[in-house]
Amino acid sequence: MSTGRAVPDKILTNHDLEKMVDTTDEWIVTRTGMKIRHIAEEGVVTSDLAAAACRQALERANVTPEAVDVIIVATITPDMPFPSTACYVQDKIGAKNATAFDISAACSGFIFGLVISNALIKSGSYKNILVVGAETLSRMVDYSDRNTCVLFGDGAGAVLLQPSDGKRGLMSHFWESDGSLSHLLFTPGGGSKHPATHETVDQKLHFIQMAGREVFKYAIKAMSSAANIAIEKAGISVEEVDLLISHQANNRIIQATAQMAKVPPEKVYSNIENYGNTSAASIPIALDEAFETGRLKAGQRCLMVAFGGGFTWGSAVVQF
Ligand code: ACO
Repeated sequence: MSTGRAVPDKILTNHDLEKMVDTTDEWIVTRTGMKIRHIAEEGVVTSDLAAAACRQALERANVTPEAVDVIIVATITPDMPFPSTACYVQDKIGAKNATAFDISAACSGFIFGLVISNALIKSGSYKNILVVGAETLSRMVDYSDRNTCVLFGDGAGAVLLQPSDGKRGLMSHFWESDGSLSHLLFTPGGGSKHPATHETVDQKLHFIQMAGREVFKYAIKAMSSAANIAIEKAGISVEEVDLLISHQANNRIIQATAQMAKVPPEKVYSNIENYGNTSAASIPIALDEAFETGRLKAGQRCLMVAFGGGFTWGSAVVQF
């Protein structure tokens, strides 16, 4: 297994946002823990970030693009409605033997991708699978809406999964969805329900809409429960978890999830101040950073947990 990440150089700070909407650095830091987020330059699309993260993961594993069997991209900000962003990634990295497709599970997308690829690896038919979380959320955010525009950033993280010796790999997973709550976090425009028209653009239907307080409540409940379930299914105690990587939605959500799952603060990974919420990309970006900085090492166990639009949520315990 190896990891990679790609984030744009351009940075949007809380102080920049103070000039755009009625907000303050103090409000954003207190409510979310965020200080900066990375924003894709004009012309850079989701598949560019995803491809860069994939190239890094492949180089680190010394695997050629031609050896990749499957590319799964989790995203809610695809390059286009179709074809899939994964197909663009395949072309950009030269993975000409790979099957490529996207999955849509919002912020839980990386965990869902991990579960799918684990099943594919276990089938015995695939040796190299790239699972990518990649987003350019800045393209879907209304920068005149202070409720949402301060929260999101762009970036991509990739993981190359390979068959293991049996001791390493996914120890357990849990995933669930509740479509009855879709109206609390969604982008209504651009699909078959509200295809793009002048009216839908005027009504700003192509931007993320969110009932923040409701999302907050559900997220903590679902993520802490998912964390407990994955630990139990793995047959380990919470003390045997070396690092918790939660979806980086909000520092208060991350801390509350950890507290309810009884994971001590020193085992909780947070990089939200440097990225904001990058949806499906947040966990693989954090994973890559955790390896790079030595927070996570071979032989250790990582609990990952996510929650997002749908609603969708999930968790996984991975032995590295
Ligand atoms: N700056 C200043 N004031 C703001 C801002 C802002 N950027 N945004 C909202 N406010 C105001 C609101 O208008 C409200 O004002 P009012 O009381 O006059 O109506 C006030 O702040 C308080 O709003 P609350 O919603 O109570 O603030 P809360 O403490 O809940 O924090 C937040 C808001 C940060 C959005 C929080 O609810 C949250 O993080 N929710 C989760 C949302 C999320 O993470 N979504 C991402 C996708 S899902 C996921 O990734 C898990």
